[in-house]
Amino acid sequence: MKLAILGGSFNPVHNGHLHLAEMVRTAFSYDRIILIPAYRSPFKLGAGGPSPADRLDMLSASVTGIPWIGIDDCEIRREGVSFTIDTIDYIYDRYRPGAKPGLILGDDLAANFFQWRRASEIAEKTDIIIARRTKHEKIDFPYPYRDLNNTRLDISSNMIRELIQGRSAWRFLVPPSVRRIIEAGRLYGCQEDAVEPDVQAAEGGARGEGASEPAPCGSSGHPSWETIVRIEEEVRNTLSQPRFLHSRNTALLSWDLCGRYGLDRQAGYLAGIGHDICKSCSDDKLVALALADGQRMSKLEKKKPSLLHGRAAAVLLKQRFGIHNNDILEAVRLHTIGGVNMGDLGKVLYIADKLEVSRRDVDPVLRELCSSAGLEELFAAVLDNTVAYLRSQDTDISYGTIRLLAAMQKRKKS
Ligand SMILES: [Fe+2]
Ligand SMILES: [Fe+2]
Repeated sequence: MKLAILGGSFNPVHNGHLHLAEMVRTAFSYDRIILIPAYRSPFKLGAGGPSPADRLDMLSASVTGIPWIGIDDCEIRREGVSFTIDTIDYIYDRYRPGAKPGLILGDDLAANFFQWRRASEIAEKTDIIIARRTKHEKIDFPYPYRDLNNTRLDISSNMIRELIQGRSAWRFLVPPSVRRIIEAGRLYGCQEDAVEPDVQAAEGGARGEGASEPAPCGSSGHPSWETIVRIEEEVRNTLSQPRFLHSRNTALLSWDLCGRYGLDRQAGYLAGIGHDICKSCSDDKLVALALADGQRMSKLEKKKPSLLHGRAAAVLLKQRFGIHNNDILEAVRLHTIGGVNMGDLGKVLYIADKLEVSRRDVDPVLRELCSSAGLEELFAAVLDNTVAYLRSQDTDISYGTIRLLAAMQKRKKS
């Protein structure tokens, strides 16, 4: 996995940020660009304005359905002043990049790079990429770097904040989803009478009342990206931020693993983004949804209805979003407990759910295996690890998981 990091305040994220990410990816063939919002930049102390949660929400909304962009909230979770070297160490630990990660800097930041904490260590651990924001000529920089030689989009977050406050035109400098969050939250002093109902109505076709339903996918069919985007929006709007990021990271890892194992990546992304869609439902709602699949409830499910969130999600994806692809529905249904005859997509989702980058306390051996092992080996290792953890916690283990474990062990011996 070849990845590059783009950090910043993203206050707010705008089209210039996303354009820069795409230029870097295209110019240097990265698999993924990770956007990392700072909790507090060392150079912008006391910036005020929207909360880190608001900035993160806008950032998440801006990349809906884009599998080559990741969002990582590590600096927000760390709180305090965000130092890049801490983030680089975190990236090595969680992402296990096969090569040095790229670090994207604007030429305005590059001038003061020598003042950054442990600057030479950052330069050693990353491939620095300098993008032009202010200058056209090459800059004087004391460490090795690659020049992006990009076209400049003359947009900045500061400019957008001022335009909003001054009631000037700003709406088309940010993705529509970001604009909606700014307007709904009255961020940056956005005034109620400045919200344009006509623009909202025009865009309602994509998500609001009167929106045409995307075509459902058949039992082995390919889900459309339009459907995936609708599901991702629903997940972002209904789950807490950490749960949403978990779902998105699961989708990205599932996408990567499907690519490696020759499976349908789009199906992998959908299963990942939708697998916990019912996580915030009440127990009653979970039971009602789950029973619609025609199966009975086990003793353990009756005792602990939260275990039904996979079954409930499979029903919801079918009923509300027209997903009929059996591989996707089975993967989502079985992601908590597994099943003896689960298919390859089910195994991928099970692995991705347990090993995605925001999961803490993942065994480093599993993280390492995740970037190199075959599907069967990796799945067996993750299953063993999960069962061992549940036993150490004295947690009830479902009959389905025990049968799966026995079947895997029998397969290993034969
Ligand atoms: Fe789950
Ligand atoms: Fe999950």
